[in-house]
Amino acid sequence: MKTHELRERLRTFPRFPLLRDATPLHPLENLSGELGVDLRVKRDDLTGLAAGGNKTRKLEYLIGRAQAEGADTVLTAGWYHSNHALQTAAAAARAGLECILYLKAGDPRKGSLFLDALCGAQVRLFDVPGSGALGPEMERGAEALRREGRKPYVIPVGGSDPVGSLGYVEGALEMREQCDETGWEPDLVVCPTSSGGTHAGLLAGIPALFPRTRVLGIGVGDDPGEVREKVGHLRDALGELLSLPPLDDRTLDEAFCFDYGFGAYGTLAGPVMDLIREVGSREGFFLDPVYTGKAFYGLLDRIRRGIVPLASRVLFLHTGGLSGLFQYEEEVHRHLAGTD
Ligand SMILES: Cc1ncc(COP(=O)(O)O)c(C=O)c1O
Repeated sequence: MKTHELRERLRTFPRFPLLRDATPLHPLENLSGELGVDLRVKRDDLTGLAAGGNKTRKLEYLIGRAQAEGADTVLTAGWYHSNHALQTAAAAARAGLECILYLKAGDPRKGSLFLDALCGAQVRLFDVPGSGALGPEMERGAEALRREGRKPYVIPVGGSDPVGSLGYVEGALEMREQCDETGWEPDLVVCPTSSGGTHAGLLAGIPALFPRTRVLGIGVGDDPGEVREKVGHLRDALGELLSLPPLDDRTLDEAFCFDYGFGAYGTLAGPVMDLIREVGSREGFFLDPVYTGKAFYGLLDRIRRGIVPLASRVLFLHTGGLSGLFQYEEEVHRHLAGTD
């Protein structure tokens, strides 16, 4: 499909601009040399909204829809380290909307939770095992606002509904334009996958624009069956919204790897924390322990084991998470100092 055709289809959806410029796509020269592949990183940790991250692209469409529906308040939910919640707070601030966050309780003096408050969000903390339990709380909150005559817009955990996932079809378009400029084209695009919207958006945009490129989402500890099902549904919905051909089951099955979850979502893993330091000291950017650290660890392991062939051109999507790294700075520091 031609870039402009897909762009025209995306233009039919309301969008609130949050990203002013394309994020960098640059080679990782030190790691590429050692690994024998051409590894590049798409720096969506540098989107320019709050501490950056993949949610910026989703929120362009989610806030656009909220505005089109006349909303005055946005609500969303997640863990205390949630980059999504922070980005939502920042996007709402830019759009002049109120923001209420329903979060699993954590230390409000640190990381994302500290920054949420600086973006003016109302933060409601709940002592729950995971973010799943927060959906009903958020719905009750939205209902109470409606009774007061307000107009709430509820954004699901991770911003992963079909509207939010449009952001990564847009992300694929940006990659296409950057690759056209440089003449470089990836054989493989890799991202972390959790609530699924980023992965689903790429699975819609990449096959349309890069017919020979594979997409691989690396799970970060969520239930594999649930992630697979969610990404599949979101990809189907995007296909309908944008009139794209469906993905066959084999392509979809091959688009997941769940070997690097290290137990469960949110569990910190020693090898991932070691890699965060290695990448910082060899390539000068930061991974986070919940998403990008696990996914990048998985990618490097697959390259070292030959699952990704030598000389492959690989694009790793950096989805952000810096504020999450600061949520866990003590744990990471203790591990690296050998005192855990
Ligand atoms: C930093 C970061 N990376 C990756 C993801 C996963 O993206 P998705 O939820 O679209 O699967 C998230 C989701 O919250 C995130 O905050």
